[in-house]
Amino acid sequence: MCGIVGYVGSGNAREIIIDGLKKLEYRGYDSAGIAVIQQGKILLRKHVGGIANLENLIGDDPMTSGTGIGHTRWATHGAPSDINAHPHLNGDGTIAVVHNGIIENYLELREMLAQEYGVKFRSETDSEVIAHLIGVYYTGDLEEAVYQAVGRMRGAYAISVIAADEPEKIVAVRKDAPLIAGLGKGANFIASDIPALLKYVKEIYLIENNETVVLTPDSVKIYDENRNQVHRDVFHVTWDADAAEKEGYDHFMLKEIYEQPKSLYETLTRRLNEDGTIKLDGISMGREELEQFGKIYIVACGTAYHAGLVGKYVIEKLAKLPVEVDVASEFRYRDPFVDDKTLFIAISQSGETLDTLAALREAKSKGARVLSIVNVVGSSVARESDDVFYTWAGPEIAVASTKAYTTQLMCLYLIGLYMGFVRGTITREFHDQFIADLKEIPDKLKAYLKQAGMIEGLSKMLYNKEQVFFIGRGLDSSVSYEGSLKLKEISYINSSAFAAGELKHGPIALIEPGTLVIALATQDALYEKMLSNIQEVKARGAHVMSVAKEGNTAIEAQSNEVMYIPSCRDELTPLLSVAPLQLFSYYVARERGCNIDKPKNLAKSVTVE
Ligand code: AGP
Repeated sequence: MCGIVGYVGSGNAREIIIDGLKKLEYRGYDSAGIAVIQQGKILLRKHVGGIANLENLIGDDPMTSGTGIGHTRWATHGAPSDINAHPHLNGDGTIAVVHNGIIENYLELREMLAQEYGVKFRSETDSEVIAHLIGVYYTGDLEEAVYQAVGRMRGAYAISVIAADEPEKIVAVRKDAPLIAGLGKGANFIASDIPALLKYVKEIYLIENNETVVLTPDSVKIYDENRNQVHRDVFHVTWDADAAEKEGYDHFMLKEIYEQPKSLYETLTRRLNEDGTIKLDGISMGREELEQFGKIYIVACGTAYHAGLVGKYVIEKLAKLPVEVDVASEFRYRDPFVDDKTLFIAISQSGETLDTLAALREAKSKGARVLSIVNVVGSSVARESDDVFYTWAGPEIAVASTKAYTTQLMCLYLIGLYMGFVRGTITREFHDQFIADLKEIPDKLKAYLKQAGMIEGLSKMLYNKEQVFFIGRGLDSSVSYEGSLKLKEISYINSSAFAAGELKHGPIALIEPGTLVIALATQDALYEKMLSNIQEVKARGAHVMSVAKEGNTAIEAQSNEVMYIPSCRDELTPLLSVAPLQLFSYYVARERGCNIDKPKNLAKSVTVE
């Protein structure tokens, strides 16, 4: 997702737009730009990196103008760079566009514009197509040109457009991406989200899908897709700017937990062909290449490493390929066995974790094929990989990783399925059923999150525990490690995770009356064994909070509380079972008054050894 801001009025467009973009950096921050209309021309400034880089580029240039648009980018098509940054111009620089979303048919439009109009493209982006499309339709009426252009576009987009010949106008369109209009006095605003405007206006129009907005200093008119003007009630904003960035949530972490159904849906659906098979965009490995691999390493740090633990299980089960998972800081110093028959999978939200990057370089130097699962487009890990499979989680601001983790899992399921299908280790029927089950997960998670209020209550009761154990078997043990890290890193409680079968080999010595044990028991095949492990710790006075599939009520007799998750096939439970653990950690940390989004001693991206 990206941030859009536009202004038309008697004020200083440059100042107002830059200020608004800063409030939208949580929507994307890998590049930024601004375009204003000055004496019949469009003045464009844009730069890779955060908005500070853009301000440095602008320097003391007042860019005097009352009309302009700005953009802060979260790259999807085309790595972060000056030329890929928005705004984009048409050929003669008389039209400027900023865009949030994805134009699905941009390649065919690009080809048509080049062939029929001789358009020369400057960037790798889908968004630049919009500027040229409007440009070829423009004959002095910006609304008309935008309507014509939008009629050719498919995908999700919120766009704002200015034309040099119409200096007191902005035209904006919304389709499946957020857009609002701010109502000022002698000035009006357009933006992706409320925080950008709160400093200036409290009265806004919420723009609906397929609507076009025409803004001048004295009017904001909204039109439906049939070009009929529509009335819109004024929405009075009552919350402050800080709350608005979090869209009303108290912390980015909670917002990002609740964004998971959407980010899972985005990560999955873009990879499904019409016939239900998987298209691994960014991965160019077919059967013959897959056949050559004798071993797979999954290497990462922290939460990404925990995703790799699930990935091992999934790929070994579906593709029948041996997988070894390692933390990057260990992998790079143990002289691992790697050759040209090795597939090295790096997982990294930021794509800048130095340990992971160094491990990747080590594997590459020994001939491995490198595939990375990354959230930040164009990051170092992505750039140094042979293949990149992006998680479409959008910017993850909270230090504690949540939606990046579950979208990493989604990518690993898709990779495992694809490999299994191409290698013939799973049938088409199994593949199709697995995909059908995956498709149900976003709605199941959404339903779960809607009724997760009980977890807040549990956290109020248990937040003062000074040590907590997470236990599970199979996939549940992998998720236990992630649950323990979440609790540890934001509430500072000394939590540990163990494979439940390991309790009797030592850790059970730590169980005392009142020790909190969080037991994950979602795997049907291991359910009975988990009940025994729960009895073991219960017998020693532990307070047991279990996580189980809906309907498995036998666990209630052994547990103090049970957090039920929607039922699904065993392989997919990590996508759901991690949610109660994320929420429990969040509410416990809140009860303990911790700095949830920025925990002490931690950074969002660890770019040091
Ligand atoms: C997870 O909540 C932590 N923020 C941390 O463990 C993180 O997962 C780790 O540093 C790896 O970061 P990356 O995914 O950006 O490489």
